[in-house]
Amino acid sequence: MFQTIREQIETIRLEDPAVKSVWEILFCYPGFQAILFHKASHWLYGKRRFVLARMVSQTARFLTGIEIHPGARIGRRLFIDHGMGIVVGETAEIGDDVLLYQGVTLGGTGNEKGKRHPTLGNGVVVGAGAKVLGNIHVGDCVKIGAGSVVVKSVPDGSTVVGIPGKIVRSRGAKIQVLEHGDLPDPQGQSIDDLMQRVRALEARLRMHEEGGHALLSPESASATSAKTQHSQGAQQPQPPLPE
Ligand SMILES: CC(C)(COP(=O)(O)OP(=O)(O)OC[C@H]1O[C@@H](n2cnc3c(N)ncnc32)[C@H](O)[C@@H]1OP(=O)(O)O)[C@@H](O)C(=O)NCCC(=O)NCCS
Repeated sequence: MFQTIREQIETIRLEDPAVKSVWEILFCYPGFQAILFHKASHWLYGKRRFVLARMVSQTARFLTGIEIHPGARIGRRLFIDHGMGIVVGETAEIGDDVLLYQGVTLGGTGNEKGKRHPTLGNGVVVGAGAKVLGNIHVGDCVKIGAGSVVVKSVPDGSTVVGIPGKIVRSRGAKIQVLEHGDLPDPQGQSIDDLMQRVRALEARLRMHEEGGHALLSPESASATSAKTQHSQGAQQPQPPLPE
């Protein structure tokens, strides 16, 4: 127990630069207090003292505004910042080194039975007001944006934002969203290429017909000079057609 307290204090000192003293952590950090209450309620829950366990967790809720069901499993070094309005469901599981901001819900989606709350991996950050719902798995080091609603499992190292939550980063790399108004047009591109070749051929044909003095488009200017040299007896290769 003392080991847990020391670890929690150390975690808060590392995560929150505003901390001034250990006394401040003990008395002014509801996240710290809620975790200690949860240790007690979870122990009672394990001993099947369900009502007593709920009474402890409800006392914690009254004092801190953080409601963690006694059945929830919490890893080491959880940091609850600000805390008010957090709800953690009975079958939720939280890995190590997780950061939860105020207003986070790790809840169910309806009246399911059995495992119905999310599992968070290690190093997950859940932004203020985010809702993570259902029996889903949130991978290690996932970041969930403030105000998001996540209802599907998320792979390791992703960033999820929005309602419903969409992955916008995967292992630090931005996910390219398909621009439906700017799709590639391979057929149109082929037609453009063909038109270019036809114009070049027309220019060369005209050159032959008019003895090499016709007004030509800029791209066939080199063809004109080649024709001139040809008519002067020099054996020059024809200008290549555009690919
Ligand atoms: C999601 C979050 C973790 C940022 O992660 P990140 O990996 O640094 O990602 P970025 O800031 O590059 O954002 C990626 C994209 O998501 C968007 N985005 C970020 N947070 C968002 C949010 N909460 N809701 C909707 N979109 C969001 C960004 O605008 C960006 O979009 P773009 O690529 O079109 O520009 C962060 O924005 C967040 O919400 N943190 C929670 C902080 C919090 O709750 N603080 C409370 C303090 S009391």
